Amino acid sequence: MLMGIPVTAQEDAPLTIGFAQIGSESEWRIAFTEATLAEAEARGINLLFSDGENNQDIQIAALRSFIEQGVDAIILAPVVETGWNQVLEEIKDAGIPLVIIDRNITADPSMYMTRVASDFVHEGRLAAAWLAQQTAGDCTIIELEGTIGSSAARDRQTGFNELIELFPNMTIILSQSGNFTRDGGYEIMETILITENMDLICAIWSHNDDMAIGAIEAMKEYGVDPGDDIFIVSVDAIPDIFLAMMAGDTNATVELSPYMAAPAFSAIEAHLAGETVPSLIPVLGNLYLPDTAAEEYERRAG
Ligand code: AHR
Repeated sequence: MLMGIPVTAQEDAPLTIGFAQIGSESEWRIAFTEATLAEAEARGINLLFSDGENNQDIQIAALRSFIEQGVDAIILAPVVETGWNQVLEEIKDAGIPLVIIDRNITADPSMYMTRVASDFVHEGRLAAAWLAQQTAGDCTIIELEGTIGSSAARDRQTGFNELIELFPNMTIILSQSGNFTRDGGYEIMETILITENMDLICAIWSHNDDMAIGAIEAMKEYGVDPGDDIFIVSVDAIPDIFLAMMAGDTNATVELSPYMAAPAFSAIEAHLAGETVPSLIPVLGNLYLPDTAAEEYERRAG
């Protein structure tokens, strides 16, 4: 099922929706996929699922396949922001309602029906505000970036940078992409541990929890005490980051809800019933700290 090619439609399903997912690069992404499949099943929606393997070409091929199969609607979680205009025209010409979910695209909003998304800029600001408070605005930071060209990486960076600009002694000395993966976070951190003087580094700001967890593993191997010698703040609020918090290995995470399918499906159903749907359906998230890590872990993993 989790392949690049969509599965074939069931004939008796009331509504057939194509979902072009980005891939399975992170624990958050896998939770988002599972929640979407479960929500579709609960609503009796026939969901044609495509795993884009973090590749825009695969995602575009999936979208064209959905058009050919004559789906009732399409949901696109775009890996990168640009390069969608041609296929969006094709979807529009076919008269298929389109929902952009999670990450954003640079296209005229008239090209899609609605967008279900969190505010990535706000997530970056929340992470930076927490760090500024912890360090009294004095901190040398290493940034683990998400996928280059994705709105999640760009906007989180924008929000974080906007806020630390208020504090002259908060500086990012190194910024590198780990592509939102655990291995990516590990590899970047390992190089830093070998080449940099860790005594000069105050914090790791990671665009997602998985890269932070990879960095934590590397630090432990090299005798650095994560969460203690170095502050760590990241985004997603996945179960594993709460385990790391419970172990004292990380300090803060900003939540990104994986439950975006319900509002997306409801918007499609409303649109097909002739109702007006707002152009943006926001998904909210909070900052989580070690004091609630155990209960958050139970709530999310239990
Ligand atoms: O687009 C959202 C980001 O994508 C999540 O923060 C990250 O874990 C995922 O890979």
